[in-house]
Amino acid sequence: MKIDIITIFPDMVKSALNESIMRRALGLGLAEVNVFDLRDYSLSKHKKVDDTPYGGGAGMLLQFPPLYEALKALKKENTKVIITSPRGKTFNQKMAEDFSKLDHIIILAGHYEGFDERIYHYVDEEVSVGDYVLTGGELPALIMTDAIVRLQEDVIKKESHENDSFSNGLLEHPHYTKPATYKGHEVPEVLRNGNHQEIAKWRHYEALKQTYIKRKDLLEKYELSKEDMKLLAQIKIELEEE
Ligand SMILES: C[S@@+](CC[C@H](N)C(=O)[O-])C[C@H]1O[C@@H](n2cnc3c(N)ncnc32)[C@H](O)[C@@H]1O
Repeated sequence: MKIDIITIFPDMVKSALNESIMRRALGLGLAEVNVFDLRDYSLSKHKKVDDTPYGGGAGMLLQFPPLYEALKALKKENTKVIITSPRGKTFNQKMAEDFSKLDHIIILAGHYEGFDERIYHYVDEEVSVGDYVLTGGELPALIMTDAIVRLQEDVIKKESHENDSFSNGLLEHPHYTKPATYKGHEVPEVLRNGNHQEIAKWRHYEALKQTYIKRKDLLEKYELSKEDMKLLAQIKIELEEE
């Protein structure tokens, strides 16, 4: 799959992609991410891409023509065009999974006060990364790219993201690594006894517990089995006793 990011700060985006798992994944060709400078699509001599808003008001807007020209140059028949915006639908794991199955995505990163509204005629989806306002769409574009590329085959182990928070509808269970004891804090015994069935049971119980404590809204959408109901009752008692 291919992601094209259109931005006025290409170096910022490129530098974040050049680290850690993203660097490895892109280096191995497990996904392709290209970063385009919106200025290269400017129609003006001085590569201008912003201007003041009609009707007055603070700040600058990204102009319609360079955005249009960039999409015209990069968009193919099977492309999904995503615009980053606090007004959009909030990005989540389900969207990352859906986007990860697409062939080609273009992400438009805004800046200043945002975009000339006319570009929305050429956009398929408006996506926000949360109810707050950032200075630009570069971080949202990177957040989406990271979440999408991470799901491509062989980027990380399949079991690893299948157990991640949100993937199966619950938050993830806690993890521990060596040493087994430090400053009086012990790793739960069950994780050290090598009984994989017991470990799986413990992890499921803890995932339910984390979700119950931190994100009850997720439990409302989760299909609880009869066994889960019993576990939840147990969790409630356990928490009351704490
Ligand atoms: C300062 S913001 C513009 C905010 C805009 N005037 C508004 O109130 O909705 C500049 C750009 O940053 C990006 N941006 C800021 N916050 C975002 C968020 N929560 N999710 C996605 N993109 C965001 C968008 O690309 C936006 O066009």
